[in-house]
Amino acid sequence: MNTTESACAVIAGKLSRLPPFGPAVMKLLSISVDDESAPKLFEDAFMSDPALTAELLVLANSAAYGGRSRVETIGVAIRYLGLEKVRSIAATSALRSHTRSSQPDPYLGSVWAHSIATAVAAEALGNACGRRGLYTLGLTHDLGRLGLFLVGGQTYAEELSKEFQNIEQANRVERNLFGMTHCQAGALVASSWGFPKSLAACMGEHHVMPAGPDPRSLIVTACRMADSLGFLEVPLSEPPGWPEPDPSLEPCTRLEPEALWDDITRRITDLSG
Ligand SMILES: [Fe+2]
Ligand SMILES: [Fe+2]
Repeated sequence: MNTTESACAVIAGKLSRLPPFGPAVMKLLSISVDDESAPKLFEDAFMSDPALTAELLVLANSAAYGGRSRVETIGVAIRYLGLEKVRSIAATSALRSHTRSSQPDPYLGSVWAHSIATAVAAEALGNACGRRGLYTLGLTHDLGRLGLFLVGGQTYAEELSKEFQNIEQANRVERNLFGMTHCQAGALVASSWGFPKSLAACMGEHHVMPAGPDPRSLIVTACRMADSLGFLEVPLSEPPGWPEPDPSLEPCTRLEPEALWDDITRRITDLSG
């Protein structure tokens, strides 16, 4: 094994030991919402984690999730919001506590904003093509960045806060620092945390448009939409242009840049409390 390979193996070992999301969130991510026992499994998962339940009820009643009436129990939250939205709230809560448990850092702040922006854009794309679950795929797609930050600390944050011409240039910096990109780091984290395949696939590859029909293409588009609207994954000398959604998608006002920007900004503001 040469020096680069052994450095890469050390990073991979560190990534595999990162503390995962809590057991209740991990359980929620693995339950199929099409399973008829899913509502009961969701309730059981929340009952095992009072702090997560409290967070769910706070967020379910917040403006970010259109809280129009009081949601006071897990069962009501599930009936009122639906399983997919409840799962997205749990994943948002888990990512928020992970990004906050580290020292507050502007780089992590931008990763958080980009993740929420991609999640909201992915959800809108999913609504336009009748696909569920895209919010959580968008939310977690750049989790490899959090992994590399937890391993590389300030050096990584400072290097990735410089301005790049494009994402490939930033990925090269990651390869020089760690022998891997945040996508490869994401694949390792997803594997060691036992994430479902759909999440692992998006965490492992979301900067190249897949050939043929693949839900990953919607996450690639959502990530570009987030960048184009200014919720940048890394500082770019020029934000990329607006990616035109697939013409086969239903026309959707939520997918227009101004509407999406408003939606994302509102969601980030509401979640910042
Ligand atoms: Fe990325
Ligand atoms: Fe991204």
